[in-house]
Parts: sequence; C-alpha cells; structure tokens
Amino acid sequence: MRHTAIYPGSFDPVTNGHLDVIGRAARLFDRVVVAVAFNELKQPLFAPEERIELLQQATAGLPGVEVTAFRGLLVDFARECQAGVVVRGLRAISDFEFEFQMALMNRKLHPELETCFLTPKEELTYLSSRLIKEIARLGGPVDAFVPAPAARALRAKFARPA
Ligand code: PNS
Repeated sequence: MRHTAIYPGSFDPVTNGHLDVIGRAARLFDRVVVAVAFNELKQPLFAPEERIELLQQATAGLPGVEVTAFRGLLVDFARECQAGVVVRGLRAISDFEFEFQMALMNRKLHPELETCFLTPKEELTYLSSRLIKEIARLGGPVDAFVPAPAARALRAKFARPA
C-alpha cells in the first residue's frame, strides 16, 4: 500500500518553512499531496494558480510530491486523494491551539484520518507568509525567507510605478 499524506494550506506564498516541512513529509510518506486551499472568505495576495505554480517550482525534483488545489472540506479532499494522513507544520506553542482544534474537528469528520505535526528547522520557525508579505509590501528584502521565484513574484506584486 502506498502511504499518501496531504499537506494543506494557504501557501500565500510558499515560504522556506513550508518547503522544509514538505521535504520532511516527503521522507516519511510515499506520496505527499501539497494542497492549496481555495477560501472564498480570505483575500489572498496570490491567485490559487500562482500559488500552485510557485509551489511546483519550489518542489520540482522532490520525489513523490504533487501540488494541487482544493475547494470545500479538507476531509472530503483527503478521501478523494486516498490520503490517510494530514501533515501540518507546528512552529511554536502559539500555533498549537488552532492546530489542535482543527485536528480534532477533522477527526470527528473523518475518524480514520490522522493529523501529523512536523516541526521545521529551528531557524525557520519565525517565518510566516503574513509577515513576509508585509515586509515585501514595505519594500524590504524577502530573499532569505522564500524560494527565489516567490521572492520575484512578491517584488512584482508590490513594484511601485516609476
Ligand atoms: O495555511 P493555513 O491558512 O493555516 O491553512 C488552513 C487550512 C487551509 C488547512 C484550513 O483552513 C482548511 O483545512 N481549510 C479547508 C476547509 C475545511 O476543511 N475547514 C474545516 C477545518 S476543521
């Protein structure tokens, strides 16, 4: 049996922290489906297609990793992918409360689906897409925080007309 894990998120945009978690998941599972969530209630900076493209560029060459998007409930998409595990990154205690609640809710909805928390490298735990977007919006350097294509995409989004 192939063990499939799903790694859902907003990925607006992908950061080096996400990539670290994807690499760890790829070493643990045969197939890792990185799933960009469509959320009509959120106003992302990048369209889902852009987020998928940036993730695909960043994960090219990682064996067993696929990138896609989904609408609706994660548990339904996990069934569709035949995934038995949801991977989520935990950076700090502050992430835990929400992640714990989500894991338990997902378990109520789909008792066979396990949530597996992976911690990124310590030096990446301060990264967040929200802060990185703020830095880029204010003209700061983001190259150390995201893969090169995402850094270029951020600069292009916030480029000031000459
Ligand atoms: O990167 P994020 O924004 O922290 O990811 C949150 C995400 C996409 C994993 C979560 O919002 C989600 O699973 N959305 C899909 C809809 C759903 O299943 N909601 C109920 C979760 S208990």
